Amino acid sequence: MRSYIEQTGFFGGNNVEDIAGKFGTPLYVYNEEIIRGNLRRLAGMIKKYPYTANYSIKANSNLSLLKIVLEEELNCDAMSEGEIRLLMKAGFTADKIFYVPNNVSADEMKFAIDNGIMTSLDSIDQLDLYGSLNPGGKCAVRLNPGVGAGHHEKVITAGKNTKFAITDDQLDKMFEVAGRHGLKIVGINQHIGSLFMEPAPFLAAVRNLLNMAKRFGRLEFIDFGGGYGVPYHKVSEDQAGFDFDSFRTQLESILDEFVAEAGYTPLFKTEPGRYAFCEGCVLLGRVHATKTNAGRKFAGTDIGMNILVRPSLYGSWHDCEILRDGSVVTGDKEEITITGNICESGDIIADKRMLPEIKTGDLIAVLDAGAYGYSMASNYNMRLRPAEVLVTSNGDIKLIRRRDTYEDLFRNMDI
Ligand code: LLP
Repeated sequence: MRSYIEQTGFFGGNNVEDIAGKFGTPLYVYNEEIIRGNLRRLAGMIKKYPYTANYSIKANSNLSLLKIVLEEELNCDAMSEGEIRLLMKAGFTADKIFYVPNNVSADEMKFAIDNGIMTSLDSIDQLDLYGSLNPGGKCAVRLNPGVGAGHHEKVITAGKNTKFAITDDQLDKMFEVAGRHGLKIVGINQHIGSLFMEPAPFLAAVRNLLNMAKRFGRLEFIDFGGGYGVPYHKVSEDQAGFDFDSFRTQLESILDEFVAEAGYTPLFKTEPGRYAFCEGCVLLGRVHATKTNAGRKFAGTDIGMNILVRPSLYGSWHDCEILRDGSVVTGDKEEITITGNICESGDIIADKRMLPEIKTGDLIAVLDAGAYGYSMASNYNMRLRPAEVLVTSNGDIKLIRRRDTYEDLFRNMDI
């Protein structure tokens, strides 16, 4: 692909220098059209059976974007009381929220119970606690299907090497604890990890989960989790996107077998996070210095690891485009490393990339920044978290989160 920004008309006809001039950098810029297209693809992931997509808001929890999720009629999953509260603020009613916590306090569980939110417990201890708080209630359990997948070992959440979920050999004990509290387990869920492009491990996990489902009698819902991949190498390697059509065919044929054998049709669910917003966002940063150290060229920007931590944390790849005077720069390429303004040598956005020459004053657009970008940003080095803007479907630029102020940084310490 030549340029993602040009091909998609990402800035909706606006000059990117005007956007950067008005809102400053670093800046997360979202494109409403791309986002709505991806949300619709998720909402249609399973067509043959009753199905709900629960958008997993840990990937991006901007309030204005959550309202778009609501408009597109997806439900959501939440990991914490904060995420539940935010969803309620965005207008999601309790029946549209699925709470999938890990290692939480009685108080946090009680908050979900008091608000009538379906909760999934992911250990026998937490099930026991839930039962003592809500005897005779309904709940779900998170199961480990024995197969994990993901772009990095840190984000594989099923299989042998993980803290999450209840395993096959713990089911007897689980039923005993649920029975002791009169709990009715009405749903099961799994999440095997984040980012797969090849569906094989996911489909194997679906098969395993459906096998485990047989131990539960009639369930109201079965949730297969998230993890649907995004092509982070779309410009550099012309990487193709996740093939939902072929995925659907394979998934639905596994569901056919389950429904025929089990003799009932539950509501099927998934929990996509990354896919919803990842490609509908570029992160803009300004180049403040260039230098060559021991023959290695660096472009120094205001996109520190506090703004986008994925490359430093997981070694993740994000394609980058260079913008000068409002246009995408093309031309001869050279090796360059794009860094931020944080006091660590690991503060790298793009390591040893082949890119057109970068000059001080250029803008860098980091692609596919909409998932686990802002939601993992921090104030490390007392830096301000950035603003977020949305390029709306009619080409307006709308501020959807203001940049931190220094007062924001100090507020919690003014005691
Ligand atoms: N459901 C559960 C229970 C999860 O833990 C997650 C993600 C999802 C759904 C959504 O998965 P997705 O569709 O986004 O892959 N920070 C990492 C990703 C961590 C994912 C955590 N759990 C990254 O930047 O790659």
